Amino acid sequence: MKISVIGSGYVGSVTAACFAEVGHKVVCIDIDKKKMDLINAGISPIYEEGLGELLQKHAGRNLIATTDYESAIKETDISFICVGTPSAEDGSIDLSIVRAATESIGAVLAKKEGYHVVVVKSTVVPETTEKFVLPILEKTSGKAAGKDFGVAMNPEFLREGKAVYDFMNPDKIVVGSIDQKSGDLVSELYRAFKCEVTRTNLSTAEMIKYVNNSLLATKISFANEIGNICKKLNIDTYEVMEAVGKDSRICPRFLNSGAGFGGSCFPKDVRALIGKAKEIGYSPVLLESVIGVNEKQPTLMTEILQRKIGNLEGKKVAVLGLAFKNETDDIRESRAIPVITELLRLGAKVSAYDPMAAENMKRIFPTIEYFGKAREALEGADACLVMTEWNEFKQLDSEFEAMKEKVVIDGRRIIKAKNIEYEGLCW
Ligand code: UDX
Repeated sequence: MKISVIGSGYVGSVTAACFAEVGHKVVCIDIDKKKMDLINAGISPIYEEGLGELLQKHAGRNLIATTDYESAIKETDISFICVGTPSAEDGSIDLSIVRAATESIGAVLAKKEGYHVVVVKSTVVPETTEKFVLPILEKTSGKAAGKDFGVAMNPEFLREGKAVYDFMNPDKIVVGSIDQKSGDLVSELYRAFKCEVTRTNLSTAEMIKYVNNSLLATKISFANEIGNICKKLNIDTYEVMEAVGKDSRICPRFLNSGAGFGGSCFPKDVRALIGKAKEIGYSPVLLESVIGVNEKQPTLMTEILQRKIGNLEGKKVAVLGLAFKNETDDIRESRAIPVITELLRLGAKVSAYDPMAAENMKRIFPTIEYFGKAREALEGADACLVMTEWNEFKQLDSEFEAMKEKVVIDGRRIIKAKNIEYEGLCW
């Protein structure tokens, strides 16, 4: 089938490359010409494991990239909207990019003959596809949804860094649609995947995405709250969660307590669901607590630090880990951000190290010191805070010798070194 994918960010470029890999003809559309040139040259516009290889394999063959909506939509049967939905000031999602993409598609549909399906893949709160996207399409095309064109909603559940693997090996595929015909066509695209397609209406598909992420975020905040209680009782929360996770109804994953969740999805999606619930007159107490616990965890790091070394004025604090999780250079909503902000407010000097994310963090904290090795950041430090679960931190040992005081506070249960004054955030 011929597919156009609007937006070449991490969801769009992975979707396009993976659909090409399973044999579809794919056209990427983005307003950013530089990105389109990169994709046409078989180069990934973002860092994502395996994506470069797929683009290299398919660019110029069954995958092409263009800035021209008209040719791309006229030549394809199904268009996926994969543009960003950033957080607005009040926590709701900003739909301006979705609106622009939808208007552009509608304008081409006005001139296109034959049936076309428009699929929303961007994460949007329930009712957005039906009450926002669909009316814009009808208005700009002058045509009727369900008759002249189809509308569907097909959320993604991709982890950053593992997005290609997740796309190719899905746990679930959800296709919400306004009618049987559009849902059938979108489901057909996934025929090559060994995974059942869950068919729903538009709003249910949208809701599934939010519930998925909110439940995972809830597991983490739950683990963090239990961790905070266990620590006060001298109980090892990791031992507790390992046993609890053996219950097949619970599963052991996403029960690691520590500095909390960051990234481009969990904080944004939970806040957006809270916003939607309030909009319809419901007060989401649990979801608000999920965010509340997550915001508290970083503050516990600096509280422990002050208890250990007293006044932070003029003290040198090494921060190991800046990315929101390991294997990425992404710092969005990283728990290191509130921690560094607080350290600076309290007068500490920060020396930071991250295997990948230092360049990105320089834009937020241009004045702190960045080092190319953990050992260098630790040199002469009065204390060290560990903020990201990088595997290489497991190997750190003699590096801590370089510190003035070997006080190490671990926010990720990753440090294995002996001969240090170690304290875990929740253990
Ligand atoms: C997440 C979802 O997993 C994915 O399905 C969705 O499409 C996008 O959001 P991602 O943001 O890439 O993916 O990160 P993920 O690997 O899920 O981790 C999110 C955050 O939770 C990280 O900051 C991580 O450090 C933290 N985390 C994860 C914990 O604190 N404890 C855990 O047990 C697991």
